[in-house]
Amino acid sequence: MKIGIYPGSFDPITLGHLDIIIRASKLVDKLIIGVLKNSSKKPLFTVEERVELIERVTKNVPGTNNIEIASFDGLLVDFAKKQNATIIVRGLRAITDFEYELQIAQTNHKLCPSLDTVFFTTSVEYSYVSSSVVREIACYGGDISQFIPESILQSVYDKYKSIRSV
Ligand code: PNS
Repeated sequence: MKIGIYPGSFDPITLGHLDIIIRASKLVDKLIIGVLKNSSKKPLFTVEERVELIERVTKNVPGTNNIEIASFDGLLVDFAKKQNATIIVRGLRAITDFEYELQIAQTNHKLCPSLDTVFFTTSVEYSYVSSSVVREIACYGGDISQFIPESILQSVYDKYKSIRSV
């Protein structure tokens, strides 16, 4: 059984992420979406919330019943080994992503030679979409409806509302 991991912060999941999930789930028997728990960045959503948002978004997507969602801490290669994964999936939006992604892919392969990284080029309509841009727009109350799935739209606005009311 070919197991792939699509790791990321997913803070929050975007339409670009969803596009990669749908395409990558066809490449492997099981696709584990690995949500990074401890990032150097301070996330907007807790890891439990990010997992729940991904569950909500992927629940009714046809052809993606081979998806699992899990959080992880520490090194990606250790998580991948524990899950018996042989493929890491990452999306490439632009050339600016490439340098960082290449370095991480090569490092991960050195740390665990049985792991290979497969890159998906993002669909053109999502090539500029990122979680950080979504957070920036939502923070100022802007319209993020073309960037993230509709089912989580209100949760993102509510999160900023709750932050402002503290
Ligand atoms: O969505 P992101 O923030 O671009 O995802 C980055 C992620 C989670 C793939 C990367 O930070 C990661 O794998 N972190 C775990 C620690 C690790 O294994 N780093 C790579 C070796 S230096």
